Amino acid sequence: MTTLPEDLLKAALEVRQKAYAPFSQFLVGAALQTSSGEIFSGCNVENRSYGLTNCAERVALGAAVAGGFREFDMLVIATSGGVVPCGACRQVLTEFCQRLTVFLVDVDKDPQAADFVQAVELAELLPGSPTL
Ligand code: THU
Repeated sequence: MTTLPEDLLKAALEVRQKAYAPFSQFLVGAALQTSSGEIFSGCNVENRSYGLTNCAERVALGAAVAGGFREFDMLVIATSGGVVPCGACRQVLTEFCQRLTVFLVDVDKDPQAADFVQAVELAELLPGSPTL
């Protein structure tokens, strides 16, 4: 089982504090690790239209691609409750990731507790996606 690197967790928790979420008050931090070890992070950026809101995962992915990286190993998503990514993010992540371990972190839990972090594979979250 893949373990969650400390620096990747820290990046997701830190960027979550930058979330622009005045409409939902739901702060999301995402940190993506490239296959060569770089970390790119993103937070949700809401809009009063609601529909134009960007999720944290897609902000992180966009930053990584714009930085010249297209291969990723791990993603951490930090939220209250440890929620799974939305369908749109699953699809967009699948564009770049054959295989991606997704760590769901529940910021309300004690970091030492067993339920602080849960690991899932992107392929489990979006089964049946075409092979790239
Ligand atoms: N959100 C994310 O950024 N990522 C997720 O995985 C779940 C949802 C954001 C979108 C919106 O700003 C807020 O959380 C409530 O849905």
